[in-house]
Amino acid sequence: MQRLDKFLCDSGAGTRSQVKLILKAGRVAVDGKRETDGSRKIDPDSQKITLDGEVLGGKYRAVFLMNKPAGYVTATEDPREPTVMELLPQDIRYLDLKPVGRLDKATEGLLLFTNDGDLLHRLISPKNQVPKVYYARHEGQAGEEDVRAFRDGLVLGDGTRCLSAKLEPLGPGESRITICEGKYHQVRRMMASRNMTVLYLERRQEGPLSLGELPRGSLRQLTDQEIQELVQL
Ligand code: URA
Repeated sequence: MQRLDKFLCDSGAGTRSQVKLILKAGRVAVDGKRETDGSRKIDPDSQKITLDGEVLGGKYRAVFLMNKPAGYVTATEDPREPTVMELLPQDIRYLDLKPVGRLDKATEGLLLFTNDGDLLHRLISPKNQVPKVYYARHEGQAGEEDVRAFRDGLVLGDGTRCLSAKLEPLGPGESRITICEGKYHQVRRMMASRNMTVLYLERRQEGPLSLGELPRGSLRQLTDQEIQELVQL
């Protein structure tokens, strides 16, 4: 933690006396709220400090985990459908979060949001092999041949080649599927290619993160330790 006025000086906002005037004029905000008290203690790694709306320090990285409900498309805007952005509370909209990858409108479960473009690209790149675990209810029953076909890398109807994936039958009409990429409708298309139409799909894990007890439609901010684990993937 450090004093806000010292942070402003160190970030090049001005000299000590200029910073005093800048604060007095109400040009500085901490996490979106105007702040005029230079003695206030702030943490530039976890708080967003702006001068005239411009982020200072450039270090603030926000990552949130949502339990997405069905009925919302994963997009920052859509002319027809409700988007996952509408589920973000008003008081964090200033963070400029973007969804990490995509869940279909009907799919529920773990969806990350971040304002860190590098982290976002690392998490969605198939090169980084971040495993994503899904629970599916589906028609038919998965057997040993399906498990092998997933492991060997499925080729979908349109010729799309999938990386090796893990299919774990859980019982009649229920399976756990782990994939390391995120092609369009991938799990539904992989299951359909084995004659198992998906009836319900939920993402339960992404890399080291799980849905846990987070209620459907809710959001929580990742801890510093969780963010470090993601950054090191
Ligand atoms: N695979 C799908 O088919 N849908 C999703 O939403 C995610 C993975």
